[in-house]
Amino acid sequence: MIKISDKIFYVGVNDFDKVLFEGLWPLPYGVSYNSYIVADEKVALIDTVESGFEEEFLQNIYEAVGERQIDYLVVNHMEPDHSSLITYMLDRYPALRIVANAKTLPMLGGYYGVPADRVQVVAEGETISLGGCNLSFHMTPMVHWPETMVTWLAEEGTLFSGDAFGTFKAADEVVDNETTFDEYRDEMIRYYSNIVGKYGTPVQSALKKLSKLDIKRICSTHGPVWETCIPQVVALYDKMSRYEVERGVCIVYGSMYGNTAAAADALAMELDRRGVPYAIHDLACNNAGELGVSGALRDVFRYDTIVVGSPTYNNGIFPPVETFMRALQARLIKGRRFYAFGSYTWSGASVNQLNALAESMGFEILGAGLSFPQAYTREKCDMKATADLLLA
Ligand code: FEO
Repeated sequence: MIKISDKIFYVGVNDFDKVLFEGLWPLPYGVSYNSYIVADEKVALIDTVESGFEEEFLQNIYEAVGERQIDYLVVNHMEPDHSSLITYMLDRYPALRIVANAKTLPMLGGYYGVPADRVQVVAEGETISLGGCNLSFHMTPMVHWPETMVTWLAEEGTLFSGDAFGTFKAADEVVDNETTFDEYRDEMIRYYSNIVGKYGTPVQSALKKLSKLDIKRICSTHGPVWETCIPQVVALYDKMSRYEVERGVCIVYGSMYGNTAAAADALAMELDRRGVPYAIHDLACNNAGELGVSGALRDVFRYDTIVVGSPTYNNGIFPPVETFMRALQARLIKGRRFYAFGSYTWSGASVNQLNALAESMGFEILGAGLSFPQAYTREKCDMKATADLLLA
């Protein structure tokens, strides 16, 4: 338990054991499931944590408020990393009432069999008094699910923001300081691109709505509590949800026998020689520490040019690369430049198919691409010319 203010207590947990968040996204630095207590004349718990942390969670709550009754459990978001201890809490606190919106109500029943008479349904802007302070509720649909809302504690300028402004990487110090944003920046971009990246327009709507609040503290469900770094965090979320990027190249490839990989490396070296910002991701490499599609998506949200390499496989795109392309499609990413390359043995198909997919996403296609037969050689793959094309 960490005391955030006289009335607010952090009662969340760090998870260093989960390998893949949502069964998909690597967690090399862990993740936190943040939950908060607001203790006044009445006590409110804001969200719960992932199952498996029951004892630690309950211990944190006892450290915060001892044997006091918890009057309300505010459910900002129903994804099970925050909701899976709802039943556990209802069993331990028989007088506890859940505070949730109308879209959350059927999910509470469907996931956990919560009876409707234990739920207090709140609407946009509605307020609950805890005695000396008040919680109000604001709908932020699709940040990250349709039922998502945030909770505002005006008396402390504190926004309980759900997944918004969240990040991968467990929370060491809980409350931020001057260096925290830089420590978390890469993992925040990866979290946003992996989890929320599809929902740029709803995030923009939420940011517009929340801009009317005088926010002094952001208590997200993942990562640090933001106080000092609020301007940087909000600016980054604003930038990402507008799909804005910097000039640079994200090279993403898969390779069966090293020839497409050699072309990718040659391009990376040429960009390096020219001082161009770039990132490179091998999707067919299973080495520990590789972030795969997760890391590639992060850098698609960072750079304006996407270069994708795939050998021709069964007259199509190499499957790990196709998975990446589908992940791009799913995120409705806008305003990117695109170039394709890859080797083939007897009939080249991957480059044309990659270009067709990229065109369907509205990307600017930078030429026909580089489809080369059999082994990589410098003669077949002129990366100086490719770099000239990318940087034109
Ligand atoms: Fe952290 Fe959408 O749940």
